[in-house]
Amino acid sequence: MIKMPMNNPHPEVRVLSHFALDAADMFADWVAGVLSECEIVNVALAGGTTPKAVYETLAREPLGKSLSWASIHFYQGDERPVPVTHLESNWGMACASLLDVVGVPEVNRHPMRGDAADPDEAAGEYASLLLDRLDCREDIPIFDLILLGMGADGHTASLFPDTAGFADAEHVVVANDVPQIGQTRLSLTLRTINAAREVWFLVTGRQKAETLARIMHSQDTAFPASHVRPTHGRCLWLTDDEAADLL
Ligand code: 6PG
Repeated sequence: MIKMPMNNPHPEVRVLSHFALDAADMFADWVAGVLSECEIVNVALAGGTTPKAVYETLAREPLGKSLSWASIHFYQGDERPVPVTHLESNWGMACASLLDVVGVPEVNRHPMRGDAADPDEAAGEYASLLLDRLDCREDIPIFDLILLGMGADGHTASLFPDTAGFADAEHVVVANDVPQIGQTRLSLTLRTINAAREVWFLVTGRQKAETLARIMHSQDTAFPASHVRPTHGRCLWLTDDEAADLL
């Protein structure tokens, strides 16, 4: 069930009573709606831990049997510098929790090469893939839906505060050096994220409540997540009671 506060001050926020189930139901309903008008849906998956329960719920019956998986193409919002077999791999998590479980065809799977020896080359390759496969507007690929998480520091995808990738206004995909975690990660840029038709944040837990409140109340521009404002699309924040506690 989706609780809508009486006079919802932040219409883009949905507080979900059963987060994984409600988010999976929303995804299934949204996909069915898009596929009633289009043959293909292009979705970029979020990484981290929050989405895992949503992906697992999507894979379980009845949803797992109800969706036209062969009509959905799966991409990534970002990837860590690890092989897909590594526990930290976002793509590995997506495959184990959803793609392999429901049997998404290989031709529908478009992972980033997070562990490439040359991350800049891998970023350029992925950008070319997106520009080749997706509709574009002004040389920016347009996803039907981008799922995102958010860290307590306000990062999203692998766009962290005070990093070049966060500030990048030129590229579609970047290899972002993130000194805070000592990694270079591949990530869609804000330019690409904000071109999407739909962007859904998946944010749960008390540890994110203050950041979410600051983004909703103060437009704290230091947070990369506060810069996600699709120019021609909708941004939804799917949360639980704990993350929405300070709204
Ligand atoms: C990643 C994600 C990142 C993640 C946030 C939230 O590769 O880590 O893309 O942006 O969504 O860090 O992570 P949790 O869902 O684990 O809190």
